[in-house]
Amino acid sequence: MDPVMQTEKRKGEHVDIVMHRDVETRVTNGFERVRFSHYALPELDYSKISMKSTFLGRELKAPLMITGMTGGYPDAEKINRELAAACAEEGIIFAVGSQRAMLEHRELARTYDVRQPNLFLCGNIGGYQLKNYSVKQVQSLVDGIKATALCVHLNPLQEAVQPEGDKDWTGVLQKIAELCDSLSVPVIVKEVGAGINADVAKELQKAGCSAIDVSGVGGTSWSAVEHYRHGFSGDVFRDFGIPTADALQQCANAVKIPLIASGGIRNGLEVAIAIRLGATIGGAASPFIKAQQTDGTPAVRLLIQKFKHELRTAMLLTRSKDVASLKKAKLL
Ligand SMILES: Cc1cc2nc3c(=O)[nH]c(=O)nc-3n(C[C@H](O)[C@H](O)[C@H](O)COP(=O)(O)O)c2cc1C
Repeated sequence: MDPVMQTEKRKGEHVDIVMHRDVETRVTNGFERVRFSHYALPELDYSKISMKSTFLGRELKAPLMITGMTGGYPDAEKINRELAAACAEEGIIFAVGSQRAMLEHRELARTYDVRQPNLFLCGNIGGYQLKNYSVKQVQSLVDGIKATALCVHLNPLQEAVQPEGDKDWTGVLQKIAELCDSLSVPVIVKEVGAGINADVAKELQKAGCSAIDVSGVGGTSWSAVEHYRHGFSGDVFRDFGIPTADALQQCANAVKIPLIASGGIRNGLEVAIAIRLGATIGGAASPFIKAQQTDGTPAVRLLIQKFKHELRTAMLLTRSKDVASLKKAKLL
């Protein structure tokens, strides 16, 4: 099969499996180990708490992100449009999924074309793909959707448990450094659910990355997804990697660039914990694609509002009037 057709088919299968099978890791993201000290006297007005945040020089209404999932096949257009519209309305970050298909078939560009005024929009490409495409080609992906930043995903585990997966990862760091040097927008490097450790975080910072999404264990397991596609070794590695809380703490101690925490973040209280552990933004993927499935209701927007309510509640109960105070909130 033509490699692009294969990519399109795979992307559709991934979304379908995430929607209909249990693909969460069996181990937690580790956030349950962190407990805030509760202020029975908050002495704050819930309605006046500010969740305003700044990320890479841009203002957001709340420190939240829907991380990259899809694009590159016909149904993805509707999914990305709904997710992006909800993020624009709620003033949070949105990322499209891998834009690899767009490099080969320009007509697929429309499935990623979700630019809205004031939306912090991230493009997406695989770190591995940087070996095959020039910086100019990657720049065309950014320009093609008028992205604010580009996410580069690292997914060696997922590739390793895919029979057709890419397995020679030599030289990827150098390619990331070259990209950071020349791209017109900031580069954010992310995992996809197995976590980034302190060594890799330091290498990425040195290479010139503007931010890191630690995307750790505790949520969507790409090994589980691949297991449902074709067996192979996916189930063995279902829980492999670094729980999100541990990845975040390691990276926060190792680097100065801003961190996004994703991987099993399922509510606004976990976003609050992520910020307390050193993240600038809390992100999630699968809950939002599942919400998107409900026809007729603005389910994605409601879910973002639920996250915001839970984050604001956590801020009230920890006597945190703004995000800067939450970063220092008392723990048990
Ligand atoms: C259906 C689906 C497709 C995804 N595709 C991509 C992708 O193309 N690029 C990427 O960087 N991450 C991709 N991810 C990974 C997510 O961005 C995120 O890192 C990971 O799922 C962990 O977050 P979660 O536990 O909230 O789902 C995808 C996730 C889902 C659920």
